[in-house]
Amino acid sequence: MMSIIWSRSRPKLKNMKREFNIALLPGDGIGPEIVAQAVKVLDAVTEKFGRKFVYTNALVGGAAIDVFKDPYPEQTHEICKKADAILFGAIGDPKYDGAAVRPEQGLLRMRKALGLFANLRPVQLFESLSDRSPLKKEITQGVDFLCVRELTGGIYFGERGRKEGNSTAFDTCVYTAPEIERIVRMAFELAGKRRKNLTVVDKANVLETSRLWREVAQVVAKDFPDVEMNFMLVDNAAMQIVTRPGVFDVVVTENMFGDILTDEASVITGSLGMLPSASVGEGHALFEPIHGSYPQAAGRNIANPMATILSAAMMLEHLGLENEGAAIRAAVEKALAAAVVTEDLGGKCSTSEVGDRIAKNVCFSTT
Ligand code: IPM
Ligand code: MG
Repeated sequence: MMSIIWSRSRPKLKNMKREFNIALLPGDGIGPEIVAQAVKVLDAVTEKFGRKFVYTNALVGGAAIDVFKDPYPEQTHEICKKADAILFGAIGDPKYDGAAVRPEQGLLRMRKALGLFANLRPVQLFESLSDRSPLKKEITQGVDFLCVRELTGGIYFGERGRKEGNSTAFDTCVYTAPEIERIVRMAFELAGKRRKNLTVVDKANVLETSRLWREVAQVVAKDFPDVEMNFMLVDNAAMQIVTRPGVFDVVVTENMFGDILTDEASVITGSLGMLPSASVGEGHALFEPIHGSYPQAAGRNIANPMATILSAAMMLEHLGLENEGAAIRAAVEKALAAAVVTEDLGGKCSTSEVGDRIAKNVCFSTT
């Protein structure tokens, strides 16, 4: 697998030997188990490459509601602000269904408070998993695209509520031109470093916000003459992702479309348990698997830790540790090739066995 070009501008590290402060937010469900595997792998990076990571744990989601009655408590925010990067597990627990305070609210508040306006979700195929994709091989061959999802605006953050005696509900989708511009600009920059093709996904035949997205994108496009931009309606995009996924290079879209399309795109790779993501913005950066908290599997040591481990690889690349990130990626591929995988990938290994093997592969890597 080729390296993923996803990072916009890497922080310039004055002293590559310094310690990196990592905030660990395991969250709910399988979160603690999968984050523990990523830490194991980061420890292997320490052993192999001499990098030092200092971890600070913090509560988020249901785990934080239980202690602080708040899914994103102030002290978690403080820890995140001070960290060089945040490694996040998952949040959500059915026990809060219908409750006034939900774990997911913590994630949304965190994204907003840390200014993480861009969620980067690379979709790449692992050769050894091509048989597991529900799509035919000729369709998935060479799939390699990057979804750039706007993360702090749109219907997720617009006014919502009930009226007319509770019998009417509303959610509002709002976007400002500056919000659109910064995400579209980032997508153009990323496309410029890749295959120079950008698809702006929207619903401009119906939604006013989408029409504004198009106007802004057309203006931004003038600064990137070498990148070919095209617009695609979201319903069409949903179809193209499973019929011709190879045509995409960079896809940029608003918050909710991005949420939906990236779950859809993840199945191309054979399992939702494989896709990592980075959420970045003005300064802070958070890395998390795109899958949820899988409460049915919590504590059973069966969940696939690879998306979280690959998120840790993205985190290292973000910190300027390219070789270390590549070593993790190669270690994951080696585990896949050796069929050291969890049950979602047809394997028999436990979460911790997969983590152990990947950590071991890092220690013995030749990168
Ligand atoms: C995601 C998740 C979240 C989202 C949920 C848990 C609020 O589905 O990160 O894709 O919708 O953004
Ligand atoms: Mg989602």
